[in-house]
Amino acid sequence: MKRLKKSINIAAAIAVALTMGLTTGLAVAADCDDEDAVKTVQKKVYKKSCKKCHGSKGNGKGPGAKGMDPAPPDWTAGTEKSDDDLYQIIMEGSKDTEMKGWKAGVAKAGKEVSEDEAHTLVCIVHGFKK
Ligand code: HEC
Repeated sequence: MKRLKKSINIAAAIAVALTMGLTTGLAVAADCDDEDAVKTVQKKVYKKSCKKCHGSKGNGKGPGAKGMDPAPPDWTAGTEKSDDDLYQIIMEGSKDTEMKGWKAGVAKAGKEVSEDEAHTLVCIVHGFKK
């Protein structure tokens, strides 16, 4: 009986720890000061998948954006959207526009953006602001 109680306590403690880890994990955005992470995602994801529309300067004038309506926004002027909204659009896309989602199951195979990468992409968006 005593033993059973102890293992229940341990199980409860593990559950609490896991829940705390999960919620903080979700709430914490990327560390935008982590230059290595930002550089890696810039090279591995932004240049490969985003630049053709959003442009190398983030002004929305990439070669692939010609004549697009709505056009990609000009991030050099900043963005009014919250980080959560930016993250959401990166993962899910923006309905009825050329901005398709990049999460697994939505993006083309091999082009999927991970949750960590999406958070770092939000840092990159802000980084274009002049
Ligand atoms: C085929 C062109 C295209 C590609 C490729 C593309 N986007 Fe977009 N993106 C757009 C367009 C167009 C919009 C504007 C959508 C709207 O007005 O709702 C947009 C909007 C966004 C927004 C919302 C910005 C804001 O301030 O309103 C984010 C964030 C974003 N894109 C990130 C990305 C990232 C990150 C990638 C690469 C992983 C990417 N996009 C690739 C065309 C593209």
